[in-house]
Amino acid sequence: MPNLINFAHRGASGCCPENTIAAFARALELGATGIETDVQMTKDGHLVLIHDETLQRTAGTPEWVKDLTLDEVASREVGSSFHEEFRGEKIPTLDELLKLVKGRDTIVNLELKNGLVQYPELERKVIETIKHYGMEERVIISSFNHYSLADCKKIAPEIRTGILYMEGLYEPWEYAKRIGADALHAFQYAVRPEFVAAAGAQGIVYHPFTVNEKKEMAALIQAGVAGIITDYPDRLNELLSEQGA
Ligand code: G3P
Ligand code: MG
Repeated sequence: MPNLINFAHRGASGCCPENTIAAFARALELGATGIETDVQMTKDGHLVLIHDETLQRTAGTPEWVKDLTLDEVASREVGSSFHEEFRGEKIPTLDELLKLVKGRDTIVNLELKNGLVQYPELERKVIETIKHYGMEERVIISSFNHYSLADCKKIAPEIRTGILYMEGLYEPWEYAKRIGADALHAFQYAVRPEFVAAAGAQGIVYHPFTVNEKKEMAALIQAGVAGIITDYPDRLNELLSEQGA
């Protein structure tokens, strides 16, 4: 499966602090062909890459991204909570990530984190940034908020979208077609080989998350998924090499 997209989840988050430039750069060094990251918005309307709505877990401060300016967010330190050697790592902007992958073939999976907080104009701002960098063909926008994905398709039909879901969605390929989505970003245990085949027959691909064990990666590759989202892109590449891909 040479074209399988190896998405580094929050960057190479198995060995680096998630959603930092260190994690994204390491993912590229490890041979990831895709990067998954989480997009939120500051009080002054800037797009920043952080998984949680607050800075508590990564920076140790009980602040909400939505209540801080970009300068405030950018001044917080998120490396040392992972390991002291990463002290000084910051919360990056979407621009910083897109500059990092400029000139490469990397596919960027932008997960819009707008389930809990409704960020005004998030979809339009993300799409404007993608277009500014000419990345329309190399980005896939994903979200658990499917209204948001439908909005993205209305704004920019040419940009791919991926439906994030956890479990038990009935015939999700039919649902994907209904909202114009291109991919199913399913929790790995919600994927069965017959689902991948049925989706494929409708032109819808699977990118399951977050798959960290080689045995589980191998089963999903066998099922025919188009990409795998993993904290360990090196592990997935090892497996692909072992398989002679
Ligand atoms: O995009 C896949 C995965 O990132 C979704 O869950 O919570 O890790 O953002 P989460
Ligand atoms: Mg995510």
